Amino acid sequence: MAETTSVWFDCDTGFDDLLALVVASRDPSLRLAGVSTVVGNTSLDNTTANTLAAVEAFGIDAPVYRGCAQPIAGPPHTIEGLLGEGGMGTTGRRLAPARRRRAESRHAVRALIAYLRAAGEPALVVATGPLTNLAQAINLAPDVAAKIGRLVVMGGSAGAGNHTAAAEFNAFADPEAWDVVLRAGAPLEMFGLNLTRQVLIGPSDRDRIAAVGTDLAGAVADSLDAYLRIRQRDKPGEMPLHDPCTTVYLARPDWFALEPARVEIELAGRITRGATVCEFRVPRKAQPNALVATRAEGSKVAGRTVDQMVAALRAAA
Ligand code: BDR
Ligand code: CA
Repeated sequence: MAETTSVWFDCDTGFDDLLALVVASRDPSLRLAGVSTVVGNTSLDNTTANTLAAVEAFGIDAPVYRGCAQPIAGPPHTIEGLLGEGGMGTTGRRLAPARRRRAESRHAVRALIAYLRAAGEPALVVATGPLTNLAQAINLAPDVAAKIGRLVVMGGSAGAGNHTAAAEFNAFADPEAWDVVLRAGAPLEMFGLNLTRQVLIGPSDRDRIAAVGTDLAGAVADSLDAYLRIRQRDKPGEMPLHDPCTTVYLARPDWFALEPARVEIELAGRITRGATVCEFRVPRKAQPNALVATRAEGSKVAGRTVDQMVAALRAAA
């Protein structure tokens, strides 16, 4: 039998987090050891409810842990206004709330610490939301930083931001968490906006999903429709497919190029808080602390994501 790698998936579900989770769950080389939720796109209650709805609908049997309801410093900055009700907008049908699946009683930060300490080999962690859970795990148990073998993150940008001109949303939502993770020396592989803007999902993908024809496919297609209308309500257009870049990368690293860089996060900037400053001139100007994704075969990455969603919908039918 082929070997599997165990992975921890930390998310703030959100439509694109849902796609990333489904992609991970269908990768035969991965075993989802735990899924943790965090405040980000929406409140912790909503990201947890959305995650539980997703694992139940798609039959993903990994345990789900509730994580942090607040960033390390300051109040949450959620974006339901942009994404739609509950952080998972729709133009019609929506995912049914979970009836059977419940979050585990253990807090996500405690569960993540236990997972990292128990891992026989350096562990793989994927994060598609603010890094609060991971940073709090490192704050409480600094030894776990050295247990992380790979940290694959959607967040930041080597160029322009989205939440602000300078900052990507996940990084803006908890810059202090990024700072903790970077200072701890966790081996970061960063999938920022400079990369995810090369990977587009559009109306034809919505139609492919809807064509599966089940109630669940209808709900996913309608949520994708809302996602495609974020920029223009009356006209769905192509949108960057952020979070699934991380999980497609695990299966198809050959579709991406990553470059060593020194990544630091702006904590104090008057108009640049949350900006991830990437110095690629390493080691001449600085010691590298990350691999930053710079290029993707965008249509292949988006195509695989939609293929996996279609396959998951058929399997769930
Ligand atoms: C990131 O922010 C969230 O809205 C998405 O889920 C993604 O993780 C993109 O900036
Ligand atoms: Ca996300």
